[in-house]
Amino acid sequence: MAYIGAGLLAGAQAASAGTKISVNGVCKQFLQSQPGWFTRQWTYGTEALREINFDFPRDSFVSVLGPSGCGKTTLLRIVAGLIEPTSGQVTIDGAAVAGPRRGSGMVFQYIGLFPWRTVEENVFFSQEMNLHRGLSAAEREAARRFIRMVGLQGFENAYPHQLSGGMQQRVGIARALAISPDVLLMDEPFGALDAQTRLVLQDELLKICEAYRATVMFITHDIDEAIYLSDQIVVMSRRPGMIKFVVDVDLPKPRYAHDVRSDPKFLAIRSRIWNALRDEIVEAI
Ligand SMILES: Nc1ncnc2c1ncn2[C@@H]1O[C@H](COP(=O)(O)OP(=O)(O)OP(=O)(O)O)[C@@H](O)[C@H]1O
Ligand SMILES: [Mg+2]
Repeated sequence: MAYIGAGLLAGAQAASAGTKISVNGVCKQFLQSQPGWFTRQWTYGTEALREINFDFPRDSFVSVLGPSGCGKTTLLRIVAGLIEPTSGQVTIDGAAVAGPRRGSGMVFQYIGLFPWRTVEENVFFSQEMNLHRGLSAAEREAARRFIRMVGLQGFENAYPHQLSGGMQQRVGIARALAISPDVLLMDEPFGALDAQTRLVLQDELLKICEAYRATVMFITHDIDEAIYLSDQIVVMSRRPGMIKFVVDVDLPKPRYAHDVRSDPKFLAIRSRIWNALRDEIVEAI
């Protein structure tokens, strides 16, 4: 018994050295129900993910790119502990993910704000859920800083229906950042933003990640955005999603959008990823 315990501890320590999130042999096949004689019958339906293996290095920024429907959101939801894999396992700091975890901040593809709460109440609520208690005045003030950081000063007391889609998305980002996450899971967080706000928030996100040292899983369809932000990019095949290849983005940090986007390395990575994704999309049509 002591031996097994020691082994587990050693595993956790080994994982904590360089790896923050470890995805081991993750497969996901969704169940589907059909009408039966007396009750509905459940069978396996869509195979979303097949045999995903990937280690997210501690404090790294990893983007996931892949054709629509290849299982990116499904993978993020598994890492977040919102759904279970059919087989395989995700560990964070060596501990198996068995449900939503304190310290993991999430920005969803479809924002999911509480419509009956104001902007600041939405942001406070995520922190209260994370801490399992109410917030002190100082903690509320700290949370308001994130609202200002995403450019929503003056809208603290607005309700979601009074905001544009891009503004709602920014509340979602503030809400995730306000819990000071050590793991930040972002599903197309800038998808609904106009091009200029998107560029500004990309820079803000880079600064925040450097200041707070979170391990980030970032899903996007934008190849340039992925290269600009990431240390590594995971490129997935069409459904069932498998990892096609992983690119190390060997561009120095801090990055400046204008310099990076004209760097020959940037252009080489972009054409490699675009060729791979184009093949996946063309073959699917
Ligand atoms: N709850 C569910 N029940 C059944 N099938 C699902 C469920 N969620 C996702 N799927 C299926 O799993 C596959 C992967 O979906 P997922 O949302 O992960 O794709 P995605 O890569 O995020 O796509 P997009 O880029 O369009 O957001 C799709 O075929 C989808 O229909
Ligand atoms: Mg998705």
